[in-house]
Amino acid sequence: MAFIEINGGKQLNGEVNIQGSKNAVLPILAATVLVNGIIKLNNCPKILDVFHMIKILEAIGCIVWWEKSSLIIDTTKLNTSTVPEEYVKMMRSSIILMGALLGRTHSVTITYPGGCTIGARPIDYHLSAFQDMNISLEEEDGLIKCTTTGIKGNEIFLKFPSVGATENVILAAVLASGRTSIINAAKEPEITELCKFLNSAGAKIRGAGTETIEIVGVEFLYPIEFTACSDRIVAGTYLAAVAGTGGEAVLTGIGGDSLHTVIKLLREMGCSILTGENYIIIASSGRPKPIPFIRTMPYPGFPTDMQSQFMSVLMMAAGTSKIVEEIFEGRYQNVKEQIKFGADIRILGREATINGVPELMGCEVYASELRGGAALVIAGLMAKGKTTIYNPNFIERGYEDICRDLRGLGADIKMLA
Ligand code: EPU
Repeated sequence: MAFIEINGGKQLNGEVNIQGSKNAVLPILAATVLVNGIIKLNNCPKILDVFHMIKILEAIGCIVWWEKSSLIIDTTKLNTSTVPEEYVKMMRSSIILMGALLGRTHSVTITYPGGCTIGARPIDYHLSAFQDMNISLEEEDGLIKCTTTGIKGNEIFLKFPSVGATENVILAAVLASGRTSIINAAKEPEITELCKFLNSAGAKIRGAGTETIEIVGVEFLYPIEFTACSDRIVAGTYLAAVAGTGGEAVLTGIGGDSLHTVIKLLREMGCSILTGENYIIIASSGRPKPIPFIRTMPYPGFPTDMQSQFMSVLMMAAGTSKIVEEIFEGRYQNVKEQIKFGADIRILGREATINGVPELMGCEVYASELRGGAALVIAGLMAKGKTTIYNPNFIERGYEDICRDLRGLGADIKMLA
């Protein structure tokens, strides 16, 4: 059984390059099935979720191979629109294949994804939008079967700016007849990146990054080469690590644009941060200042994907902080591991109160989801002595090699089998 071992309590100093973005690349990989041809995706991170997506693409007939950090996808021999159950169970975000497969083959069969450790995560917005686009649904024995005589553009109102539902509607609309407008669309940078990819391939999408996205259906998409943006959450995780341990680091391959809220709060904690188009420099002198109130919100608000990592940093703040988790109710499950470091955290519903303590002590903890796992790594770096983190596979779903990156910043961290 693999585990991560950290000898903590040291400052982080150095430079780290940020990997490609998981949440941009996954919908783009789904989008490749809308193209009948070969697509080259540069800056594709080598993470477990991408490996799972490759397995799904292969299972539906695509041929996929790596050329260094580029992934090549040949979709010409796609031969089924049934997504195998085992992969949907492994990776919930495989549901973004629904819109793309509907666009390419006019049908899709997929297992109902169910909940996961971070919350219930229903897909009702996705399904109701599909129904408004002339797509019929049948649900039986946990299977969802969607078929259409032709996808028709429509006005789609999302009750909540769901990232996945926005992506699925965009993917279904690109080759549909007529115009689709998504009202109350998600504004996350990964949506903008998906639309950039699709528009480079010949799609007609306007308004990505705003709350109204308009898609005018086209006949077909062209095969293209595309370079994915870097991962703002991986960058935010390493910024939080430096904020927690103290030190000075340069992150390259990413600017500050997609991290405004995260950077603003890190500055409130006492960090000095400089940003350029392609770098972020952070300096932290050690024990952070508390943050009276953080609420997770859809972009451009504070991201739920950074909540656990910030909680780890605030465990050692000089005072009391509060966090309200508005997006995924299950994300506080990680707190039972975080308190093993000696942290003082109280949870009441969606609100967490973190009373900062002067020091954390290394311990044995279990990762049970991706960002919670990354938060345990940060706590281990801040804590005195040895920390062991079991189930590192959850962290590998989204971080290419967190130990390599943090060792580059001088951390004493390694993966052991
Ligand atoms: N929701 C519904 N019904 C729906 C869809 C969503 O009630 O049909 C609710 C969810 O339960 C949740 C909220 O709406 O409470 C937001 O969910 P959203 O659909 O925006 O999330 P997602 O598309 O499932 C993506 C990212 C997550 C990230 C969230 C929020 C990918 C592959 N996943 O998930 O990333 O936390 O957006 O920003 O893009 C991660 O990387 O660790 C991760 C979980």
